[in-house]
Amino acid sequence: MPDDRIFITRSHIIPEAIAYLDGIYDIEVWQQNSPPPRTLMLEKAQECDALLTEVTDIIDAELLDSATSLKVVANRAVGLDNIDIPAATRNGILIGNTPGVLHESCADFTFGLILSLARNIAYGERRIRAGEWKVFDQIPYLGTDVHGATLGIIGMGLIGTAVARRARAFDMRIVYHSRSRKPEIENELGAEWRDDMDSVLSEADYVSLHMPLTPETEFMIGKRELDLMQPTAFLINTTRGRTVNPRELYDALAGGVIAGAAIDVTDPEPIPIDDPLLSLDNLLITPHIASASRQTVRRMGQMSAANIIAALNGEPMPGCVNPQALGKK
Ligand code: GLV
Repeated sequence: MPDDRIFITRSHIIPEAIAYLDGIYDIEVWQQNSPPPRTLMLEKAQECDALLTEVTDIIDAELLDSATSLKVVANRAVGLDNIDIPAATRNGILIGNTPGVLHESCADFTFGLILSLARNIAYGERRIRAGEWKVFDQIPYLGTDVHGATLGIIGMGLIGTAVARRARAFDMRIVYHSRSRKPEIENELGAEWRDDMDSVLSEADYVSLHMPLTPETEFMIGKRELDLMQPTAFLINTTRGRTVNPRELYDALAGGVIAGAAIDVTDPEPIPIDDPLLSLDNLLITPHIASASRQTVRRMGQMSAANIIAALNGEPMPGCVNPQALGKK
């Protein structure tokens, strides 16, 4: 309905999707590039029919319990750890996300991290800009081969599978652990199932994390798990910062327990500039941009808008994690 009200928590990320929604509904857009303050979020959740949010907007039980007219929250992300899904369902509020449109971009990026970490691409670039390239000498930059190595994937969902496909092109052996076994991926890619994560950690040269952040996966990688990895192995985290204990990761990197790590995600985000992890040369870090190609961000915006339109029209949403909320309001 044209008088349905939508609050959109950023203005500059998905302008086309916003313009599209603006042609149909009564929209209000937060104009800054940082999250709206908590008091405003609570106010908008109470006044509006729909929210279009980012992963850094906290949609918790307090907000959802007080949102009497809210029908749908469309998170422009596949991850939903910023939203209390049981509270949303209890309150009859549909929650949308964007699976199926970002996994290829995330897999491209994950492979970029693996290659950069293994072959010192970002490290070499940092050294040149710091004025350290004074003589032809490759020895300080000796890397590790990616081709022919073993890739361990934890979480074989859409992103993990897309990473595994790329690994095949690099003649990598793939071992994986996931909530459920995926025989079709084993057949297609020759990926080898391990029924415990520990085996993946100890066998792999590169361990790439692709499980969602849930109470079960929070700080799932800590000292015990890092100790299981080989001293020549690398950890890649593009899922959520809170899946890895940051102090224990620091100790493992500083102490040579593992060879290096690439992290696109931290806890908190942004990471404070004085965080000890940033002092390490064997850490490669990027600012939560694995899905951030122009094409994919546009697609995520379109899917978020489509989620809102469908929910407000009472139609099936393209990406909904709690369809059982329907009709509870
Ligand atoms: C990004 O982090 C996402 O969950 O889509």
